Amino acid sequence: MNRQSQKKMIIVGMGERAMIYAKEALAHPELFRIVGVVDVRPERVDLAKRTFDIPEENCFSSVEEMVKRPKFADAVINGTMDQQHVETSIPVLKAGYDLLLEKPFAVNQEEADRLLSCAHEAGRKVMICHVLRYAPFYKEMKTLLSNGEIGTVLSIQMAEHVSYFHQSVSYVRGKYASPKLCGSGMLLSKCSHDLDIMAWMLNGIQPEKVSSIGTVSQFKEDMAPEGAGTHCLLDCPVERECIFSAKRLYLENPQRWANNIWHECGCVGIAEEEKEQVLRKPDNPYSQCVYRRNLQIVDHQSMMVSFANGALGTFSMVGGSSASGRRIHITGTKGEIYGTFEDQRFTVSLIDPREAGGKKEYVVDVSSAQKGNAHGGGDQAIVRDFISILNNEKPSLCCTTLDDSMIGHQLVFMAEKSRERGGAWMEVK
Ligand SMILES: NC(=O)c1ccc[n+]([C@@H]2O[C@H](COP(=O)([O-])OP(=O)(O)OC[C@H]3O[C@@H](n4cnc5c(N)ncnc54)[C@H](O)[C@@H]3O)[C@@H](O)[C@H]2O)c1
Repeated sequence: MNRQSQKKMIIVGMGERAMIYAKEALAHPELFRIVGVVDVRPERVDLAKRTFDIPEENCFSSVEEMVKRPKFADAVINGTMDQQHVETSIPVLKAGYDLLLEKPFAVNQEEADRLLSCAHEAGRKVMICHVLRYAPFYKEMKTLLSNGEIGTVLSIQMAEHVSYFHQSVSYVRGKYASPKLCGSGMLLSKCSHDLDIMAWMLNGIQPEKVSSIGTVSQFKEDMAPEGAGTHCLLDCPVERECIFSAKRLYLENPQRWANNIWHECGCVGIAEEEKEQVLRKPDNPYSQCVYRRNLQIVDHQSMMVSFANGALGTFSMVGGSSASGRRIHITGTKGEIYGTFEDQRFTVSLIDPREAGGKKEYVVDVSSAQKGNAHGGGDQAIVRDFISILNNEKPSLCCTTLDDSMIGHQLVFMAEKSRERGGAWMEVK
C-alpha cells in the first residue's frame, strides 16, 4: 500500500450513511483511512473506534473539540442529520479540511448561503453526496444529453413515488416526519436527489420561477380505518386489516425498512423475541397509528419550474404508493429519453421522419451495471470521486460541488415557499 497517496479522513456523525462511506476504507485501504471520529453518541464513537482502529486521542464528542487539535487529516465526511450539516461543517471548513457532506447540505436558503460563502472564503473543496448521479441509469442519460443525442432540452417531467412502507417508517413514524426532527419537509429530505438530477440534466441552467402545491392526503385522523385504535400492538382491533400494521410491516416482513427502527431505537442486533417488546412500548412512534400522528409535513407535493432558457420542469412527489419508483421523461428538439430508475433501463426515441412511425427507438439497459442496487452503486462511486478531487485529479461527470448542488436546493426552498402561499409563483433570485 502506498501510504503517501492514501488519504486520511475524519467522520463527523457516525450514523448509518457515514458508515456506508467509511466502510469503503476497509474495502480500499489503498485509497483512504479513517483516522478520527466525532459523534455526540458515545456508542457510535466506540463503534467507529473499534471498526477502524482509531486512536483514543482522535475520538471526539463535538466538532468544536476536534478542531482545537492541529489539522490531522485531509478531509471530513459529514454524515450528521440534515439540520446539523451547516453548524458542524463551518468549523471543519475554517479548520482547513475538505469536505464530503451528506445531502441536503442545508435546510433553508439562509443556511445554504452561509455554508457556500464559508466554503469560498476558506477555499476548501466541498462535495455533496448526490449519489444518484453515479447510478448508471442517470449517468448514461446525462452522457447522452451532453452528447446532444436529443438536442436542446425543452421539457423535463419527473416523479418520485414513495412506497407505503417506506413512507410510513420514515416520513410518518420516523425521523423525517416533522421539521422539528429533521429541519425540513419531505420534498427536501426525500426528493433533493431528484431535483438535483433535474438541475443536472439541464446543465446548470438557472431556474427562474417555481410554483408548488402539496397536502397531507392520507396520513390524517379522518382516513383511519373504522374502529382503529392508537397503537398497533396495544389497542387496535383492526390491526390485521390495516396496511400500516407495525406488527406485519416490521416483525413479520422486516425487509420493509425495519432495520431503520432498531437503529433509531438504539437496539441494533437485539434478539427477534425482544423486538416485539420494543414495539409494544406505548411511546414508540413506530407502532403508533399512522393516521393519528398529527403529521406536520405534506405526504404528496407537485411543482412546476421555468428555466432561464425557456425549458419547463415538473416534479411530483407521491407518498404512500404500492411501490417505490423514480420516473423521468426528457423531451428535446431531436427526441426524447424516458424511463423508470427501478426498471434499470430507459428508452431513447429520436425524431426521424424517414421511419414509418416517424421515430427511431432504442433501449439503454443498465441492469448489469446497476444490479438492482438502491443507489445503483453510487454510495461507493462517490467516495472514489471525492478522493480523486482530493488528489487534484479531474472529477467525474457526476461530481457535485457545493455550487452545483445549490440549484437543486434552491428549487426545493422556492417550492416550499410557494406551497406555503397556496402555489404562488416564486421568482428565484
Ligand atoms: N445520500 C443519500 O442517498 C442519503 C440517504 C439517506 C440519508 N441521507 C442523509 O444522510 C444524513 C445522515 O442520515 P443517517 O440516516 O445516517 O442518520 P443517523 O441518525 O444514522 O446518523 C447521524 C449521526 O450524527 C450524529 N450527530 C448528531 N449531532 C451531531 C453533532 N452535532 N456532531 C457530531 N455528530 C452528531 C448522531 O449521533 C448520529 O450518529 C442525513 O442528512 C440524511 O438526510 C442521505
